[in-house]
Amino acid sequence: MESVRIFDTTLRDGEQSPGATLTLPEKLEIARHLEAMGVDIIEAGFPISSQGDFESVRAIASEITASTVCGLSRCTPKDIDRAGEAIKHAAKGRIHVFCATSKIHRDHKLRKGKEEIVKISVDSIRQARQYTDDVEFSPEDASRTELEFLEDITHAAIEAGATTINLPDTVGYATPKAYGEIFSHLIAKLPIIRERGIILSAHCHDDLGMAVANSLSAVEGGARQVECTINGIGERAGNAALEEIVMALRTRSDYYKVTSRIDSTRIYSASRMVSTLTGLAVQRNKAIVGENAFAHEAGIHQDGVLKYRETYEIMDPATVGIPKGTLVLGKHSGRHAFRDRVIQLGYTLTDEQLEHTFTKFKSLADKKKEVFDEDIEALVDEQLEVATGLWELAGLQVTSGSNTIPTATVTLRDATGQTVQDASIGDGPVDAIYSAIQRLTGIQATLLDYRIRAVSKGKDAQGEVQIELEHNGRKIRGRGLSTDILEASALGYLAAINRLRSISNRERLVTQHVAI
Ligand code: KIV
Ligand code: ZN
Repeated sequence: MESVRIFDTTLRDGEQSPGATLTLPEKLEIARHLEAMGVDIIEAGFPISSQGDFESVRAIASEITASTVCGLSRCTPKDIDRAGEAIKHAAKGRIHVFCATSKIHRDHKLRKGKEEIVKISVDSIRQARQYTDDVEFSPEDASRTELEFLEDITHAAIEAGATTINLPDTVGYATPKAYGEIFSHLIAKLPIIRERGIILSAHCHDDLGMAVANSLSAVEGGARQVECTINGIGERAGNAALEEIVMALRTRSDYYKVTSRIDSTRIYSASRMVSTLTGLAVQRNKAIVGENAFAHEAGIHQDGVLKYRETYEIMDPATVGIPKGTLVLGKHSGRHAFRDRVIQLGYTLTDEQLEHTFTKFKSLADKKKEVFDEDIEALVDEQLEVATGLWELAGLQVTSGSNTIPTATVTLRDATGQTVQDASIGDGPVDAIYSAIQRLTGIQATLLDYRIRAVSKGKDAQGEVQIELEHNGRKIRGRGLSTDILEASALGYLAAINRLRSISNRERLVTQHVAI
């Protein structure tokens, strides 16, 4: 069967989701997972947009070898040089250049005519080819571009050296049949596409909820690359969801007659990782990875599934790596069994990460009778975020209840191992804890959001607290996990403060570097 390339843009278009900023270690973590999953191309960022993006693309390009690593670039010489520099050390590197082509963008955004747009696109593709043989060109807003002009610019781009032509539905305006026809039309009209083995690519946004349907229709029309993101995160309503595209192609291969290289058993862990690190929750009824995606509530359905699973289940949850939710390990379980379970759950951890998570697991197993897969996933997710720990919670005492003024005594350990202690009162126990942490760290931040949930079942379940803080106009997330919800609250707050500190330090370093 012919294969469709999966181009993942979680780290570029996905990171453009409001509030989804990722740090460099987090981006690397996601890139490693995407590579292990079999993603063909990873769009790692937009190098000219910031020093952070440049460094992320460069770091990912230097480490990832199995997937092609791509940097985005506008059609300007300095953008292309920056993207070329960022992918310089890649085993397989791509530059993705784009220029708007629709009338509305030509007239109002670029204020340029068709000829000039063709010229700057061609010049840019030629310049990008000096860095790599793998150049992708996107006529931005392609789905609203006159077909004739799309033919002209596609032809010119291929002549200039583009090897992939991506036709974005930038504003999520396309409808499936019409979008698919753009692909079949270009293939029929431009023999150069077949002669040079050019790959046509779909890139769809979900403004009308049709991103996945449009992408699949493009595949029917001849697209052999689909651009998508984990959990469908992205600009505005998001991009086409990778997990939906991959599972549609797999489950309905009888219809689409194409496949992808993706190891679908890593989908669920990828979804959890992206949701944890970006702070963007997955809706319960989300296809493939939502909590209810494989839950059967109606009695008739449950009866059917028990008699023969396929009566109501078109996919086996195991094919997307959803754990069975069984009781797995206890306090007598050793490192080996723990490691095997982590791998079965779809995670790849370094020895150091594994050791850290194992220690946490042991202390959890001491507190909690039954350790579920969900508990282990939460520990691994927490581990993924701890890379930048500056302040550590060394002690917490809280008094609260009726007719008592809530009071918290907090002890923190800093990176040098020194401990500091302070106490504070508050409107409630969480408020008291947060006031004490603010006094100790000297960081005054506004709490924008506070959410708590039980990770698994039972009254001894771990509580997961997710918070969002605002500090000097910057929004920052944090997540804490503990069988004690007040401790989880403190840990969530500290995780956010640590994140804030590490991002600020990094920016300070970068500014010094630029100034030099
Ligand atoms: O949606 C879009 O048009 C894009 C381009 C940069 C490909 O993201
Ligand atoms: Zn996009």
